[in-house]
Amino acid sequence: MFFPTDWNLINILFYSVFGIFAVLLGFLDYFEVLAMRYSKFSTGKGVPSRLGMFILYFLPVITTTVFALPYLGSASLPQWLVFAAVFIHFAKRTYEVLFVHNYSGTMQPFTFVIIVVTYALIAGLISSLNAQAVATVDALSIIGIVLFVIGQIGNFYHHKLLADLRKNAEGYHIPRGGWFEQATCPHYFFELLAWLGILLLSRHFFTLLAFVAMLGYLSARSFKTRQWYQKRFPDYPKERKNMIPFVF
Ligand SMILES: NC(=O)c1ccc[n+]([C@@H]2O[C@H](COP(=O)([O-])OP(=O)(O)OC[C@H]3O[C@@H](n4cnc5c(N)ncnc54)[C@H](OP(=O)(O)O)[C@@H]3O)[C@@H](O)[C@H]2O)c1
Repeated sequence: MFFPTDWNLINILFYSVFGIFAVLLGFLDYFEVLAMRYSKFSTGKGVPSRLGMFILYFLPVITTTVFALPYLGSASLPQWLVFAAVFIHFAKRTYEVLFVHNYSGTMQPFTFVIIVVTYALIAGLISSLNAQAVATVDALSIIGIVLFVIGQIGNFYHHKLLADLRKNAEGYHIPRGGWFEQATCPHYFFELLAWLGILLLSRHFFTLLAFVAMLGYLSARSFKTRQWYQKRFPDYPKERKNMIPFVF
């Protein structure tokens, strides 16, 4: 694991604040202290979802690229892998926002700002820190690539199932097919697999903190989403977990 070599005041402050944010994010969302207001949890007013999501996913494509420019010309294979994984992740999400998802709501402006800043920061900093990378592609890198690929495919597949729910009728329906039969948000589980893959490729302490933030946030959101379905649909299947079939 790569840690900052120079623990100056700025580094200490930055890692302390981001570390606390990463650990608390899920709790802050769940207890509505810093609730992310979009989609099912939207307050009804704000940035149209497709526009907001496009900006918050496309900006990281740019920050990933800009912060990699200083070393990309002479990048090693491990550096290319980290860069490619982060770039592909946000490019795929941008594609899905434009051509796959079928949105019905809005994002609250404050939620929009928090997510824009967080994603641009995570993508840019992972890309910048990648100037320092592992020397060679090793077993952990291979596991990282496998997790990343499985994560992206599984995530895309479940996004398509969600989008197809609105082919014939607007509104919200009980998702069917794939891992939706066993879990409420399997797309979140696959998203986390992909980020675990990025963590194994990058191996920077900051990437670990970003992963912890996502793990907490997506766990809390899947928990709230299951409660939301149970309230809205009395026939919502009881056996469906939050995010990981049979486990959570
Ligand atoms: N890394 C992270 O921290 C993080 C955090 C959040 C999201 N993400 C990524 O973003 C992806 C999407 O997340 P999300 O929170 O926006 O997912 P989501 O709330 O499940 O929504 C995804 C799409 O499906 C639609 N949808 C959801 N449930 C539906 C239903 N029951 N019936 C019909 N349509 C439905 C939504 O429409 P509406 O917009 O109208 O609800 C939206 O277009 C995740 O899978 C993940 O890849 C990553």
